[in-house]
Amino acid sequence: MSKESDDQLAGDIVGTMRAVFGKHRARAAHAKGIVLEGHFTPSEEACTLSDAAVFCLPSVPITVRFSDFTGLPDIADTDGNADPRGMAVRFHAGGEGRDLDIVAHSFNGFPSATAQEFAELMHALAASGAGASKPTALDTYLASHPAAKTFLTTQKPPPESFATAAFFGVNAVTFDDGAGRRTHVRHRFVPQAGEHYLTATKRTTLGPDYLREEIVRRMATAPVEFEWKVQVAEAGDRLDDPSIAWPESRRLVTVGLLSIERLAADQTAADKILFGPGRLPAGITAADPMLKIRDTAYFLSSKDRQ
Ligand code: HEM
Repeated sequence: MSKESDDQLAGDIVGTMRAVFGKHRARAAHAKGIVLEGHFTPSEEACTLSDAAVFCLPSVPITVRFSDFTGLPDIADTDGNADPRGMAVRFHAGGEGRDLDIVAHSFNGFPSATAQEFAELMHALAASGAGASKPTALDTYLASHPAAKTFLTTQKPPPESFATAAFFGVNAVTFDDGAGRRTHVRHRFVPQAGEHYLTATKRTTLGPDYLREEIVRRMATAPVEFEWKVQVAEAGDRLDDPSIAWPESRRLVTVGLLSIERLAADQTAADKILFGPGRLPAGITAADPMLKIRDTAYFLSSKDRQ
């Protein structure tokens, strides 16, 4: 696709998201979040897979934003629509061309194979609000798009903590070791505390902001840690379709440890950060074209939230 049609598609999706969730001068998606800081220590193997600065320095500072889904800045953390949760990470590895952003969520997949298909889903959602006659446009869409139906109906319960959910980068990228060896991978952040989700009973006892309250309490005693693992593609694995998870039998390589230590001091200022799914350093390139359109969409959304 040409740059113009990519930009148009990104603009269309952001506009439709705003039609679905309303205009809040906030992120068009994952509007409610909390910004934290810490550092990343790469494993020895990381720099052999990609010569990106993030993997070859001893340690790099990180900014992390955990979030709830939807464009509603006040959604209750206990609300089922708040899934998937988000985890966006900036690796500060020396500035433009060296820094890396990864924007991941708590579901190993995506409702749509391509950005075009995602736009169609958003349009179906926008046409299916309260009062829409049955079957709604969304009912019809889901009947012919099983991956979207699975995404919308099989989310896990809310996590006990942002520190007890696993997060998936979903869109494939290619690592380059600087000597011509290329490895196609998908990112995931695996919580050192294990994965734990709320029981139905526990969920009724928690307040609308329990996740941000909990993570602040947790960091007061110890850093919150995640292993960053990459799932390595094998021949035949689709690089350009995030709606299909690769088999769990694929090799997982641990590329390092994220240690999240403190709340960013000024949350209002910190929340202005613009994560770019296409902010990739030398040594990592996009394998999935969705990353480029995501990058434009996030930029457009950030302009509406200034
Ligand atoms: C065509 C596909 C997609 C589009 C158009 C899209 C669009 C957006 C937009 C407009 C925002 C708000 C950005 C901002 O204001 O800074 C956003 C945020 C977000 N999206 Fe997506 N998205 C897509 C795919 C995905 C995928 C595949 C994931 C997960 C792997 C994801 C996870 C997130 C998260 C976690 C945030 C919050 C980022 C933050 O904390 O700043 N999105 N998305």
